[in-house]
Amino acid sequence: MKSKYLIYFLVIACFASCSYNNEDDLTEDIIIEDVVTYDDNIKAIIDTNCILCHSNPPVNGAPMPLTTFENVRDAVENRDLIARISTTDIGFVMPLGGPRLPQNLIDLVIQWQEEGLLEN
Ligand code: HEC
Repeated sequence: MKSKYLIYFLVIACFASCSYNNEDDLTEDIIIEDVVTYDDNIKAIIDTNCILCHSNPPVNGAPMPLTTFENVRDAVENRDLIARISTTDIGFVMPLGGPRLPQNLIDLVIQWQEEGLLEN
């Protein structure tokens, strides 16, 4: 009788350890999903909040378009885009006139820059 339970235990232990949801797999998934890219994360933020004015051609006095990867990367590198979305100065903040973007979206753009402004 005892050995019967032992076999059940071994079968269950085997299935549990054969699951692909082990720690290594999960860690790997998280790292892959965590990389911020223009295509996956940034384009949607800009399309929703910025191209109202930063269209091509730009309107409402905006000086440049933000409709392509190259446009947005250039604005981060040369036009202080991150300072403009991060500031709490309502006279300076982008989107123009506010409200400021939610902090999690600002953090994504900052992370995008830290990870090298990847397109995809
Ligand atoms: C309602 C129109 C409008 C919206 C929406 C808007 N902008 Fe602007 N943006 C402007 C105008 C007008 C200027 C030029 C005046 C200034 O710099 O404040 C400008 C300037 C900028 C500049 C500085 C450009 C330079 O060369 O100095 C950046 C960077 C910028 N916008 C980024 C953004 C981002 C990112 C968003 C979305 C989160 C956004 N803007 C949304 C109108 C807008």
